[in-house]
Amino acid sequence: MKIFIDTGILDEIREAVSWGIVDGVTTNPSLVAKSGKPFRELLEEITRIVDGPISAEVVSTKADSMVREAEDLAKIHRNIVVKIPLIVEGLKAIKVLSAKGVKTNCTLCFSASQALLAAKAGATYISPFVGRLDDISTEGMQLIRDIRQIYVNYGIKTLILTASARSPMHFLEAAKIGSDVITAPFAVLKQLAHHPLTDLGLAKFLADWEKAKK
Ligand code: G3P
Repeated sequence: MKIFIDTGILDEIREAVSWGIVDGVTTNPSLVAKSGKPFRELLEEITRIVDGPISAEVVSTKADSMVREAEDLAKIHRNIVVKIPLIVEGLKAIKVLSAKGVKTNCTLCFSASQALLAAKAGATYISPFVGRLDDISTEGMQLIRDIRQIYVNYGIKTLILTASARSPMHFLEAAKIGSDVITAPFAVLKQLAHHPLTDLGLAKFLADWEKAKK
């Protein structure tokens, strides 16, 4: 499973990259706003930190302007993947961009039916938002299972990018289901790296080592 970090904070990306676990980055307009940096400058900096897919979202909502925005973003770097919201105008834009060879990440997906349409339109990635479904008492990971079943049924090549991950359990379940990618905030990646028994075990090893030296 590929691991992308879901952030616009450069120091978080640098730190996670130093662990050797990061395969790409996802951003969205809210994360870019939070970074406090100009959009293009932020993307250019990220391309220098991570040699992998970097999702950058359009803010237009009409197909023709989405396509123009997407082509501009794609020119920034070969690793830029353009995020397009899963609305009808977004499907139209994905169809055009797919034919032009522009990689797309169809975002704000909340149903398996939507995911099938996005794949039909030619999306490179599909981003089902599992955490936001959990937030409304709907089992987000069931959506990943349903999408994977449908994609396997028809040999669909669109990559499942589990998004809106809120916990290590989302990460674990995504890996067990066979999600192609998960994108997670730095806080979740930190949680994944730590286990209390590892910390306790290491402390005991070092304490015993010190005792033996005396
Ligand atoms: O990439 C999508 C992700 O940023 C959404 O996460 O936590 O805002 O639902 P969240």
